[in-house]
Amino acid sequence: MNVVSAAPFYSSYPLMTDYLKSGLHKWAGDAYKFNKEEPYIELVTSPNNPDGFTRQDVVKGDKGILIHDLAYYWPQYTPILSPADYDVMLFTVSKSTGHAGSRIGWAVVKDREIAKKMTTFIEINTIGVSKESQIRAAKILQAVSDGCSHPNRKEAETNFFDYSYKLMAGRWKRIREAVNKTALFSLPSFPQETCSFSGRTFGQLPAFAWLKCEGEIDDCESFLRRHKVITRSGKHFGASMKYVRVSMLSRESEFKLLTERLPAIKT
Ligand SMILES: Cc1ncc(COP(=O)(O)O)c(C=O)c1O
Repeated sequence: MNVVSAAPFYSSYPLMTDYLKSGLHKWAGDAYKFNKEEPYIELVTSPNNPDGFTRQDVVKGDKGILIHDLAYYWPQYTPILSPADYDVMLFTVSKSTGHAGSRIGWAVVKDREIAKKMTTFIEINTIGVSKESQIRAAKILQAVSDGCSHPNRKEAETNFFDYSYKLMAGRWKRIREAVNKTALFSLPSFPQETCSFSGRTFGQLPAFAWLKCEGEIDDCESFLRRHKVITRSGKHFGASMKYVRVSMLSRESEFKLLTERLPAIKT
């Protein structure tokens, strides 16, 4: 089975697909370039890592299975337009609340037989998901849910998504201001849409900034490293080295340095 995703794609997909060297599936690259008359799985990441855009499937075939990776489908990152309603949907606590280390995710799957196979795979692969992690994740999700249903849910202190939205909006404003001060870099722009969860109208506020080096600079990662800014090159995501992925979720002190260093860079 060919496994594809539209470039730029999450850099772990090729690694995860091929690390078992299974005869059942193999990484087949950029979904835009896939033109074989063969069965395929397309990973649809929406919003996307690394560039933050919302996405739909791109392969124009009828032999495909879609897996929707909704790791970033949370209202601090993207306007929630409609209830997610796909055949196989993947979620994780890591991008919703930042508890990546607890290693807990979940899937919502329409077909019971596929769900059973996924459960068996997880059982074999993990020998049972850590109970500590399960308890922690349940507690986190309960706290987030309680905050959202609190009578004062509009107050940032009680509503986790409100708090996180304001944080992301503030950081995106700051990084755009920093990038606008120089002609060396550019950032994607996103359409404004109304979020059915919060009622707010806003453009994407991704967990990563997909930064492009304009002009002569061909290897943006090395260029930025020389100026003490650590990023991840576009090459890991099936894209050009003129792009880098910059984390928008670093600690405040680090983020402040980023917004000071970017506009200060001269070639
Ligand atoms: C698009 C996407 N899917 C899945 C994951 C994996 O999430 P987790 O670390 O919670 O397993 C990540 C993590 O970076 C991601 O960016």
